[in-house]
Amino acid sequence: MSKNTDIVYLNGKFLPQDQAFVPVMDRGFVFGDGVYEVIPTYGGRLFRLDEHLQRLDNSLSGIRLSNPMSHAEWTETLKRLVSENGGGEQSVYLQLTRGHAPRDHAFPQNTQPTVFISSSPLKAVAEDLLQNGVAAISLEDIRWKHCHIKAIALLPNILLRQQAIDVGAQEAILIRDGVVTEGAASNLFIVKDGVIKTPPKGPFLLPGITRDLVLELAEANNIKYEECSFGPEELQHADEVWLSSSTKEVLAVTKLDDRPVGNGQPGPVWQQMRKLYQAYKQALIAGEAE
Ligand code: PDD
Repeated sequence: MSKNTDIVYLNGKFLPQDQAFVPVMDRGFVFGDGVYEVIPTYGGRLFRLDEHLQRLDNSLSGIRLSNPMSHAEWTETLKRLVSENGGGEQSVYLQLTRGHAPRDHAFPQNTQPTVFISSSPLKAVAEDLLQNGVAAISLEDIRWKHCHIKAIALLPNILLRQQAIDVGAQEAILIRDGVVTEGAASNLFIVKDGVIKTPPKGPFLLPGITRDLVLELAEANNIKYEECSFGPEELQHADEVWLSSSTKEVLAVTKLDDRPVGNGQPGPVWQQMRKLYQAYKQALIAGEAE
């Protein structure tokens, strides 16, 4: 069923996407000076909204931009956009920039931030990727040192991800100074001897909302996990490797740098986590989780 996801929100107005315009001197366009969030909806309900709004506040304080809307206003605006676009499964994108002003690196004075929200249909993860997992390659993490900020300036991530795609892989797994950080657009988990491991939060990775949920589900279901740093050796010898993001959920990596991970098939701990994740989504749709 095709859904209408053409309505966007721009600076206080709901309007069709093809009628929404931003001045060319917007600092998002000129400098990539802004932050964003991607929030999926299931059954029209926004996934982990409070957590996304909290991370947005953290990103905004990281770039010294104040939030022009309260959480209540964000909630009302996002819910209205989701409903204008037909509810169901959507991927909601929101972006704030430092507004438009003559080009100057220094912050402009008295400029209103640009607030933009759009949504697109949330594609279900392809059955083939669930059955067989995906390929990834490891690359040097060439990004800046504030990766906990969800900045719209994504050029390094784009170049890294494309490098993976160019060799037929889905994702680049990044390594900074001998330590694995995350994927170019996802967080990373490994499993060794039944224990899930993921790099700890800090300035070198995005604190993923899906990552937190995976750890919560592990905790609630007595699956052992650790937040700990590890290097490429441990990554190469893992029994399982997973990626997580709001749009990909939890995906198994079954080929890493051209070698199979484990037996080359999604592993048993991933299978278990996938079931728990799907059950969580069903609870969200039923209004029993947020
Ligand atoms: N990206 N790390 C990076 C660098 C990311 O870009 C993302 C998500 C994640 C996972 O975060 P979350 O679980 O909150 O989605 C980790 C989004 C989906 C994107 O840029 O489209």
